[in-house]
Amino acid sequence: MGFPEQRPRRLRRSAALRRLVAETRISVDDLVAPLFVREGIAEPVPIASMPGVVQHTRESLRREVVELRALGVPAVILFGVPKAKDPQGSGAWDAEGIVQLAIGDLRAEVGSEMVLMADLCLDEYTDHGHCGPLRADGEVDNDTTLGLYARVAAAQAAAGVDVCAPSGMMDGQVAAIRAALDAEGATDVGILAYSAKYASALYGPFRDAVDVTISGAPGAAGDRCGYQQDWRNAREALVELRADVSEGADMVMVKPAMAYLDVVAAARAEVDVPVAAYHVSGEYSMVMAAGERGWLDTDAVALEHVGAIRRAGADFVLTYFARRLAEILAGAS
Ligand code: PBG
Repeated sequence: MGFPEQRPRRLRRSAALRRLVAETRISVDDLVAPLFVREGIAEPVPIASMPGVVQHTRESLRREVVELRALGVPAVILFGVPKAKDPQGSGAWDAEGIVQLAIGDLRAEVGSEMVLMADLCLDEYTDHGHCGPLRADGEVDNDTTLGLYARVAAAQAAAGVDVCAPSGMMDGQVAAIRAALDAEGATDVGILAYSAKYASALYGPFRDAVDVTISGAPGAAGDRCGYQQDWRNAREALVELRADVSEGADMVMVKPAMAYLDVVAAARAEVDVPVAAYHVSGEYSMVMAAGERGWLDTDAVALEHVGAIRRAGADFVLTYFARRLAEILAGAS
């Protein structure tokens, strides 16, 4: 009679029906909160380009993590901002380095009730802002960097980390870190590999958060295009993902998230280990900025973004909205 056989709208009639047939659910269990801890400050320092996000002191970090635990957030990932930087990035593996001290504080505070992850890279610690030491020609020296990542992994493990998250995109980094952890007897420390990490302009606000300026001209040494992935490529991500799993990655990550949902879906289809996605600083700041102008509803967009990332296949999401979403999901506001 000209009427459609299928009437999908029947299942959208009420909130209860929509809840019943929802294909994707977001829970606090899916959230990892990225947190910054800075050496040598007495008070938390707001990050202008990331409203609501701060560089923590050790003490304010501890308080934040206690609150995240109360909200049920299962995991945090730490980034350190050292007082002094050098060409090698030695603060990253210093036993008294800011992240190692923070891991110790948090381990004592939360025991095994939360998963403590640490970003494993050198860019926050090098004076040139690259993810490893430079060769004479200005390129990041891949294999020298691997030896330094091994030292960082050992230091993070000694401090009590649960999961190291290498984000430098050096070839062979997962194997080098796995070997270093095992050599330290840290066979229980896991690796969340930033496997498909793109050279993205969306990391801009993060670089304010960690006081990183990449030296050199953009398009030459002044960006990370020589080691992070080209955003024109998706198949290449599968090569990276397979390599990391074969080197011993316990979990893999796609980063950024929203513009790379095809890669998230492909990663989900390709590997059987947990897949994470990082909703990065630029993604957060765009939503916050538009929300501040009254151009969109920040909470609704945050839920939609994280929901879409889950729908694409990510098991969990690293997001600066973690705390806000946990509050929303708990019914508080
Ligand atoms: C490197 C690292 C970066 C981010 C996470 N780990 C910056 C980069 O690769 O330049 C970006 C995270 C974000 O933008 O939120 N240590």
